[in-house]
Amino acid sequence: MRITNCKVNHLTDPMGYDLGKPVFSWNVCESKGRQPISSRLKILQSANTIFDSGWAQLDNLCACPDIQLYPRTRYTWSVSVKTDAGEEAKSDESYFETGRMDEAWTGKWIGCDDSEPRLPYFSKSFIQQKTVKTARLYICGLGTYEAFINGQRVGDERMTPYCNNYNAWVQYQTFDVTKMTRGAATLSVLLGNGWYKSRFGGDTSKPPFYGSSWKLLCDLILTYDDGSEETIGTDETWQVSRSNICFSGIYDGEHVDDTLPPLDIVPARLTEPPKGVLSARLSTPVRVRQEITPDLIITPAGETVLDTRQNMTGVFRLRVKEPRGNKIRLQFGEILQNGNFYRDNLRSAKAEYIYTSDGEEHVIEPKFTFYGFRFVKVEGIASLKPEDFTALVMYSEIPRTGWLSTGNGLVNQLIHNAEWGQLGNFLDVPTDCPQRDERLGWTGDAQVFAPTACYQRDCAAFYAKYLHDLYEEQKLTGGEVPVVVPSFDLNKGCSTAWGDAACIIPWTVYEYTGDKTILENQFKSMCGWVDFLDGLEKKDHGWRKHFHFGDWLALDCPKAAKGFVGATDRAFIALAYFRYSALLTSKAAQVIGDPEAHDRYLKLADSILQDIRREYFTPTGRCAVPTQTAYLLSLRHGLSTDSARIQKDLADKLTSNEDMLETGFVGTPLLCEELTKAGYADKAFKLLLNEEYPGWLYAVKMGATTIWERWNSVLPDGSISDTGMNSLNHYSYGSIVHWLYQDVAGIAPLAPGFTKAKLEPHINEALGSVKARYISASGEWRAEWTINSDKTLTYSCAVPFGCTAELLLPGKEAATLESGEYSFTCPIPEPDQDTAGKTQTPFN
Ligand code: BGC
Repeated sequence: MRITNCKVNHLTDPMGYDLGKPVFSWNVCESKGRQPISSRLKILQSANTIFDSGWAQLDNLCACPDIQLYPRTRYTWSVSVKTDAGEEAKSDESYFETGRMDEAWTGKWIGCDDSEPRLPYFSKSFIQQKTVKTARLYICGLGTYEAFINGQRVGDERMTPYCNNYNAWVQYQTFDVTKMTRGAATLSVLLGNGWYKSRFGGDTSKPPFYGSSWKLLCDLILTYDDGSEETIGTDETWQVSRSNICFSGIYDGEHVDDTLPPLDIVPARLTEPPKGVLSARLSTPVRVRQEITPDLIITPAGETVLDTRQNMTGVFRLRVKEPRGNKIRLQFGEILQNGNFYRDNLRSAKAEYIYTSDGEEHVIEPKFTFYGFRFVKVEGIASLKPEDFTALVMYSEIPRTGWLSTGNGLVNQLIHNAEWGQLGNFLDVPTDCPQRDERLGWTGDAQVFAPTACYQRDCAAFYAKYLHDLYEEQKLTGGEVPVVVPSFDLNKGCSTAWGDAACIIPWTVYEYTGDKTILENQFKSMCGWVDFLDGLEKKDHGWRKHFHFGDWLALDCPKAAKGFVGATDRAFIALAYFRYSALLTSKAAQVIGDPEAHDRYLKLADSILQDIRREYFTPTGRCAVPTQTAYLLSLRHGLSTDSARIQKDLADKLTSNEDMLETGFVGTPLLCEELTKAGYADKAFKLLLNEEYPGWLYAVKMGATTIWERWNSVLPDGSISDTGMNSLNHYSYGSIVHWLYQDVAGIAPLAPGFTKAKLEPHINEALGSVKARYISASGEWRAEWTINSDKTLTYSCAVPFGCTAELLLPGKEAATLESGEYSFTCPIPEPDQDTAGKTQTPFN
């Protein structure tokens, strides 16, 4: 028996995070037992025990000891568990360390001449007189920063201090630099422009939205062996020199000129702090997490192009040795057109790197930008060797939790594409796309993909930061949630299904983690959004009449909507989501123990339902909006008084469209799930396995390695369908993978944190087999099925320690399983057994 996954606030050994009320979690594995009898959590500060739960019934998903934390303090902790098999085990020791909390900083904000475009290095030399026991660097630099001690990089994070509404809050990071500080040392910090200070946001022709001045604040705190402390803080004694990076921006890349002469070193100046409140970090680290060596192609147009074989997000490393003054230019694109390099779909984003050589050998690598790309056009290198180039894949810390494969190679590639859609768009903010002049935290896209994201990766800490960003925006708008978070210049206006991210994402995170603190932390945000909608709707139905994106990019789009907004009545979508948000807020109130709010939001949800029924349903339950997406919303949210009728209407609607989908961002995530629930799994599989447009496998067959923004982003002849809004790495339609985990592999949560799950696979001969592994908050679930040559089904599964499952297999009685591993053989259900309006079970 072992105790694993010991985390605080869903982070392993966090240092310098804003921990709020810390939440401890852990799992038990390899136990002979099935349930914990009791657990014991101990927290120490140095040798002193500051908390000991004693042997008690602890919630391993959300243990919230009542402890008081102090600034800059390291705590260690461990947990012991006794099981019903008489075993006892203790976890390894973990730690967490607080940041500055309310402590005052020694350093002051410093800056430099902002009219000089070369990125500044701020530095300070110092000598340590005594032996250092511990050293910590607390630092924030705007737009972005990298710190060095004696020329050696501090940590390996990229794009710090990350992306926020910098007018609301600004994050600092904490680094353990104990091993880097010995004797005489120079601390230097390079500042970049980043999101804060480069062209970024909705109107990219305007100057940077948040700021135009570089700003740096740091405290290097040295604790000596004798217990004394020394702080080296930023002030006017720091010096400013200039780097050879003469241009840097998120959309446009970087320019480095190694022939530039050094500029005079000048003293730093004191400067105004940023508007936002300086806060301990919530962002999880962005790092280079994978490297790819590309292939080299010479295109028909004679271009030298590198192909990473994978649409990805990140930067590169390139070894160069070219004559002095030689210019090397790299440009980044997602697709070739007629075999040639292409990037018109990046719109105004230049997405390039320009390097002027000093004649020496160098390894070049961008510092404060990133690209969404598969292909790189290289100019200015006499004989490029692909092994000199390494693509560096960057994304936030989101530990992998899901593994899924099937008997169908194209479906496997689709799953891969959804995984890479997440990796490419989880760079501090859940973005729509990583390549064009957008890369924004569109709330609708984030909401639609969140349940899939949570099967694939542990996103709890990542979303906690995004939801904090979201609430910060609401504080400025009186509850309204902007379409983009952080908002940049898009801080006005909202839309249904986008702003509802405020309620849907916290609830999703709660469902996946069983940690109710996300609901506690976001409750004001959830209420704020619902109250805002309520206020609007009460004023002459202001919410239904409001602007809405609607079923974005749906194929039933009327001509006048020019391919953007689907046919589903937008007011109908607005009311359905309004009700859903009210309902989730009422559920959240119940979880966090606020019966009054529970009641109030439940009543509101009920009254919206009555409104919806009055306006959109006949008394006998017929939906007046006859689209695939309207039927799907009706089913998902129980809007009709006669769901069976809507199920049939949906099936008929699909049949009359030759089983082709027409859904956009709103309808697509529900499509296969609602069909399966309605007993039309055969239709869901038909949609999945359709290899022609419109369908998921069309893109796969066209060579996609990520999810496209549009069902036909690339036409059958290989040409890109449009340049205005056409990303090849846009994860929304990747939400199909949620259905694959939940209904096809059949691991569906029945209780928050997956302490209880429904195991109900849906079998399909063309798919042949499925193998899923999901490391839930409660431990590892597995489900696997194969169709044997004798037409029987072999099914096996694993239920983690402390969990139970409801097993529903074709031809078998429903059964309750306790933790353990199981295997069954049963007949394959006849297709017509999968009848409308019923689930597959029980059959006998
Ligand atoms: C983005 C979307 C986003 C949409 C708003 C687009 O430009 O790329 O994914 O949700 O605008 O409708």
